[in-house]
Amino acid sequence: MVIPQHVAIIMDGNGRWAKKQNKPRSYGHLIGTDNVRNIAIKADELGVKVLTLYAFSTENWKRPKDEIDYLMSLPAVFIDKFLKELMERNIRIETIGDISALPVNTLNVIRRAMEKTGSNDGMVLVLALNYGGRSDIVQAVNEVIKAGNVTSISEQDISENISTRNYPDVDLMIRTSLDYRISNFLLWQLSYSELVFVDCYWPEFDEKRFLAAVEEYSSRQRRFGGLL
Ligand code: FPP
Repeated sequence: MVIPQHVAIIMDGNGRWAKKQNKPRSYGHLIGTDNVRNIAIKADELGVKVLTLYAFSTENWKRPKDEIDYLMSLPAVFIDKFLKELMERNIRIETIGDISALPVNTLNVIRRAMEKTGSNDGMVLVLALNYGGRSDIVQAVNEVIKAGNVTSISEQDISENISTRNYPDVDLMIRTSLDYRISNFLLWQLSYSELVFVDCYWPEFDEKRFLAAVEEYSSRQRRFGGLL
């Protein structure tokens, strides 16, 4: 089986899953957070090098304040529950997105987890927090301009300044809940990714389904615009 080096996931459907169980949306987010642990471990076991998860988009600020507050408490829930296991597995936590706009408690928890896991050299678990694909590209362009003396910008300039510059290109992008959208996720980085849309909600997306998505990836012929 060909293992994707970089997998990115849009973890959609927590709210709908909770509704199906007659539970509040927050319950869906909580069980979804436990599932981050399960899928991260499975990805690590399979040999994935980078796993990027869309945890909070720049558009998610439009949700009711209660739900935003709850979502902002989840990094701490995740880290309290699973940091020990991440350390044992040599997994490093990193982020993309403008985390400076997060509530200070959330930010502190994330910074501490990044510090604690900073010298782990196994799989990188990248949390996309206050992330938007368009602002990622704009930020990269601005970095290039700031460097000075710019008359034109190349693809390489953007790739070298975009948030994911230290990671390999995204090989596989998975979205749960059967919505066929990119939703302002890694716009630049998904150019040649294989896309897999899964017909279950994120809390139901278990290790077996993750493996099936990787198998689907492995069966695809990637041509990158050329011929085989
Ligand atoms: C989309 O479901 C999901 C989110 C906006 C949040 C995803 C966050 C997590 C799974 C937990 C984050 C974990 C860490 C470690 C920070 P939705 O609420 O849009 O579902 P719906 O489309 O059914 O309403």
